[in-house]
Amino acid sequence: MKRLIFATSNEGKMKEIRMILSDMGVEVLSLKEAGIHADIVEDGTTFEENAIIKAKTICKLTGEVVLADDSGLEVDYLGGAPGIYSARFMGEDTSYTIKNNAIIDKLAEAKGTERSARFVCVIAAAFPDGEVATTRATIEGEIGYKEEGTNGFGYDPILYLPEYGTTTGGLSAEQKNEISHRGKALRLMKEELRKHGF
Ligand code: IMP
Repeated sequence: MKRLIFATSNEGKMKEIRMILSDMGVEVLSLKEAGIHADIVEDGTTFEENAIIKAKTICKLTGEVVLADDSGLEVDYLGGAPGIYSARFMGEDTSYTIKNNAIIDKLAEAKGTERSARFVCVIAAAFPDGEVATTRATIEGEIGYKEEGTNGFGYDPILYLPEYGTTTGGLSAEQKNEISHRGKALRLMKEELRKHGF
C-alpha cells in the first residue's frame, strides 16, 4: 500500500484528511506516527511558502511523500490580517474569545460588504524527486457582530455565512468538511496525488 505523511500533530486535521483520502487506498501517517520531531520555522510570506517549507523539510528528512497545510483568516477591512499570522495574532497563548472579540471591535465602523472575510487553506505536497504541488481553497463569509456557534475551533465563531444563517462554528463537522477551505483544498490535492501515481 502506498503511504504518505501529513505534516501535522493536530489530531482533528488527521481525522479530516483520513476521511477525505479514504477512497484512495493510501496509508496516511501523522508526524508522531512517523516518529518525527521537527521544529520547523515558518518564515514564508505567503500560505503557499509556509506550506511548502513544512512539506519539503519533512520530505527531505524522511524520503517519503509529504503533505502539509497552512491556513488562516483574511479580513478585508484589516487589509487581509491576520492572514498567515492567524495563529500568532495577539500571541499564540491568547484565547480565541479574546482574539475574536478584538477583531469584532476593530470592525465596529464596518458595515455590510465591508465586513467580508474568508478562511484560506493551502495544501502542499513534496515528492522525493524534488517536485512540489500546491492547492488552495477558501470559504467566503463576513465577520459577525458577536461570537456564535460552539463547534469547530479558532476563528470559527466569527466567520458568518449568510447563506447558512450561522457561522462556521455553527455547522456540524460533516457540513463544515463539505464546504470548508481545508476540505476543498484536500479534495483538489487528491487529483494532484493521482497524477503522481497514487
Ligand atoms: P494552522 O494552519 O493550523 O497554523 O492555523 C492557522 C490559524 O488559522 C489558526 O490560528 C486557526 O485558528 C486559524 N484557522 C485555520 N483554519 C480555521 C478554521 O477552519 N476555523 C477557525 N480557525 C481556523
